[in-house]
Amino acid sequence: MINIDLSNAIKEKDILSYQKKVNLINKMIIDKTGEGNDFLGWVDWPTNYPKDEVSNIVRVAHKIRKNYDVLLVIGIGGSYLGARSAIEALKGLRYKDDIEIIFFGQTFSGTYTKQVLDYLKDKRFAINVISKSGTTTESSIAFRLAKALLEKKVGKKEARKAIIATTDIEKGALLQLSTNEGYIKYVLPRDIGGRYSVFTPVGLFPMAVAGIDVLKFLEGAKKAQKEFANPDLKKNICYRYAVTRDFMYNHKKSVEMYVTYEPHMSQISEWLKQLFGESEGKNKLGLFPASATFSTDLHSLGQFVQDGTPLLFETILNVQKPLCDVKIPHDDKNLDGLNYLEGKTMAYVNDKAYKGTLSAHVNEGNVPCISINISEMNEANLGYLLYLFMRACAMSAYLLNINPFNQPGVEIYKKNMFHLLGKKGY
Ligand code: PA5
Repeated sequence: MINIDLSNAIKEKDILSYQKKVNLINKMIIDKTGEGNDFLGWVDWPTNYPKDEVSNIVRVAHKIRKNYDVLLVIGIGGSYLGARSAIEALKGLRYKDDIEIIFFGQTFSGTYTKQVLDYLKDKRFAINVISKSGTTTESSIAFRLAKALLEKKVGKKEARKAIIATTDIEKGALLQLSTNEGYIKYVLPRDIGGRYSVFTPVGLFPMAVAGIDVLKFLEGAKKAQKEFANPDLKKNICYRYAVTRDFMYNHKKSVEMYVTYEPHMSQISEWLKQLFGESEGKNKLGLFPASATFSTDLHSLGQFVQDGTPLLFETILNVQKPLCDVKIPHDDKNLDGLNYLEGKTMAYVNDKAYKGTLSAHVNEGNVPCISINISEMNEANLGYLLYLFMRACAMSAYLLNINPFNQPGVEIYKKNMFHLLGKKGY
């Protein structure tokens, strides 16, 4: 169960004042008539996804789980953040499992790259290389290195069985390579961009290998898809959130800070930063998406949030039931003075930290706060939540008259880098 409390951010009449605009944009999203409409495949994907491919993913993932120590997931941006954030959100940061998932190819760091390759030397590992274009430099270099290591370890024939490629259906270097080598292939649909791809094989395969029930995850998204088709702002929590963001932007806020009190949710904030940043940050417009993990960052950023330049509002991912918990024990000497918390759980303390901070930020700091209350982190709730954000992002960008599905600004640094690297044609 997920609900959104907007009472610390906006008045009901201000939400409802958006109804006409929201009706029009919702129709544009459903009829696929807005700018970037050839990238709206994600909207009805939770209903229309290819059932055979997902069954195959579950089957292959099960084999990989059984036969290998590590799945190396190679990808960057939209080809990486969804799977990583979903796995961490659902499993936590430290857990015992039959297989370890390592993310690779999301950096040019020699240190990280070398250390991962060294770690893999004595592990039985499989590779899921993910790239829609099939030409992204970070993931291409990483794949070249990992493939060479795997082939050296187990030979070309065995390596072929351990490599799964997720890429475009028709074009790209990775498609060519995987066709030539006979790797298992999954398709990243043409009409779904990277940051909207978590419900496709891009997210589903690594999640399934991690032991996550991807069918339940898709079910959650399907529930959200159905609910958010009705644009009524009295009911539609997704669009209520989207218009609140727009209202904030039009009332002098320039930063949306995603806040979580659970470190294993902080990758969801990273996914959100890409989703909203890359979708909205165009034409010199858009909220800057930032993130913080409390209470950790209350000891660093807390002062600014409370008393600094009033440029931000908070969107809090409030997980009400933790994945697991621990009680604070009794201590006879009580030198640390903590016996008043004896028998209380960490979740109890975390909840009081959340409530105390919310009151301080809203009532004394005048910081608008949106609370997204998530009863617990399970597959269905996560599917619902991620779909909610994707649809809210499309609505928010269209409210700013921005195409949510392109990223023209990302190409410029690449051109400079290729020029400096001496790539032909740059
Ligand atoms: O959202 C996006 O489109 C980007 O973040 C891409 O996913 C990212 O650049 C990786 O691209 P590719 O999948 O082509 O390797």
